[in-house]
Amino acid sequence: MAPVSLAVIGAGQRGTGYARWARRHPDRASVVAVAEPRQVRRARFAAEHGIGAGNAVADWRQLADRGRLADAVLICTQDRLHAEPAEAFAALGYHILLEKPMAPDEAACRRIVAATEEAGVMLAVGHVMRYTPYTRAVKEIVEGGQLGDIMSVQHLEPVGFWHQAHAYVRGNWRRADLAASMLMAKSCHDLDWLQYILGRAPLRVSSFGRLTHFTAANRPAGAADRCVDCSVEASCPYSAPRLYRDLLERGEHRWPLSVVIEDFSPGALDEALRHGPYGRCVYACDNDVVDHQVVALEFPGATAATFTMTAFTKPARRSTRLFGTRAELAGDGETIRVYDFLTRAERLITTAPAGAMNAAEGHGGGDAGLMDAFTGAVATGHPELIMSGPRESLASHLSVFAAERARLNGTVETIPPYAGLDPERTAVTAPGTARRPPVQDAMASPMRCTRRALVRPGAPGGLPATITASRATSRPPPPAPGSARDWTSRGRGCTRSSLDGSWPAPSPVAWWRPPQDGRPVLRQRKPGPVRDNHLDHPAQIVMAVFPRACPAASWRMAWGTSASG
Ligand SMILES: NC(=O)c1ccc[n+]([C@@H]2O[C@H](COP(=O)([O-])OP(=O)(O)OC[C@H]3O[C@@H](n4cnc5c(N)ncnc54)[C@H](O)[C@@H]3O)[C@@H](O)[C@H]2O)c1
Repeated sequence: MAPVSLAVIGAGQRGTGYARWARRHPDRASVVAVAEPRQVRRARFAAEHGIGAGNAVADWRQLADRGRLADAVLICTQDRLHAEPAEAFAALGYHILLEKPMAPDEAACRRIVAATEEAGVMLAVGHVMRYTPYTRAVKEIVEGGQLGDIMSVQHLEPVGFWHQAHAYVRGNWRRADLAASMLMAKSCHDLDWLQYILGRAPLRVSSFGRLTHFTAANRPAGAADRCVDCSVEASCPYSAPRLYRDLLERGEHRWPLSVVIEDFSPGALDEALRHGPYGRCVYACDNDVVDHQVVALEFPGATAATFTMTAFTKPARRSTRLFGTRAELAGDGETIRVYDFLTRAERLITTAPAGAMNAAEGHGGGDAGLMDAFTGAVATGHPELIMSGPRESLASHLSVFAAERARLNGTVETIPPYAGLDPERTAVTAPGTARRPPVQDAMASPMRCTRRALVRPGAPGGLPATITASRATSRPPPPAPGSARDWTSRGRGCTRSSLDGSWPAPSPVAWWRPPQDGRPVLRQRKPGPVRDNHLDHPAQIVMAVFPRACPAASWRMAWGTSASG
């Protein structure tokens, strides 16, 4: 499989990080072009990736003007510079990895979804939390039914005192009109993660929160506009010199220090503290985003969730408690404890995150997981490898917009089902854009799960050309002997490639868990070794390509011969 060629738009923190994944995996991806206005960053990036001067330009429009230079583009500009390049590169046929948030307003998010669907290109949004080993483990427990029905959820994002001061008081995300709301900038990850774990989008939200502490009203007596001139700096927890000088002394030449200086020297840091935005007193900035916020969400099935984002914590990982009818799960981003109500025993699962859950260390393996999935999807033409596709990302962005409206207006906001999009519509990988389009199906999104058709022209063994699946509107009838549902309860699935040599490898590994309480559960894994291979029915091929984000709802499977969904 040839490596995927990539163009990078914005050689800042995120663009540099994703591109380094490509350098570490030259068999999977190579960076062939970059657009970055800052000369120092552009030159450093081009040298690191061996990009010639012709393909290292100052503005994304210069790359777009030259047509399609690469298989895919990584759009890593700031929040308000996402929609325009996403639409332009989609129209050129690039597959797109787009940093979150998709855009700071709903109309632009919808335009991005429409542009990628119309162009038939893949879109992966930077919801890196979906791609960590920890998330995979939580998701498997939830889908495995061990918790029973999840009735309540508690989720905390402990932003941390210095991180808040760095990014959301002094830094790039301090003002909603320059970037996005705090909830969108920081916690779109959290609302997205809850939706992913629960397998469904929320119906209603309310929210409370304010900017309370980081204001002029709380400025201590004797404080100066800059920490380096301040007589009370030593007693201030938010001192900029203490944070950044400590990092420089420890040789931590990465985020967040790399945001403040390009040249890691005491002189450059002194200059930045004296004149740059990161040396300002936290009580004398032009910030307006909240420093604490609570969101209450109601999901289908009467699941009620609360989410808390707060600046006022020590450095810590996000934590979650899922309260089910059979067990309680508590997770902290690394370890998961499941207390079973029947046995009264607690199971401890320790996942091995690749680095801490922060930007400097790749979000616990999430950054690498996203690149792995995205490049794999582009290389094989399998959009279902992407867990943060356009529609599920739009759905979670809509919950953020609704929560922010609720906070500002003091209302309870309703979110339209299926993000107001046509649930019947299926995006199809356009002929010629994927290298090896395997099936006429791109059902990577739970929003598209209600009905779909998988077409396998020329399938061997006299197989039906199409199998349709539709969500049962009521409890399914008892299975007829020999029906698809009857078949599916026989055991576990295996890889597609093991059944049909023409399917590209690696292919997703999936297995079918026999229904519990009458409800089938579909699960899918990333490419990997075949775990079970004892089903002999070819329909398991189809089972393997169902999206992993399908909710554990009732499904009817039926054989058919029509290509219509
Ligand atoms: N997925 C995550 O967990 C995560 C974490 C942090 C940030 N982000 C998001 O990633 C995006 C980038 O964040 P960052 O911290 O890398 O920002 P950054 O400021 O470090 O990088 C953005 C880069 O874009 C460049 N740029 C500006 N205009 C451009 C143009 N016209 N053409 C090409 N490049 C241009 C800037 O010069 C800058 O180098 C933001 O939207 C941010 O919210 C996501």
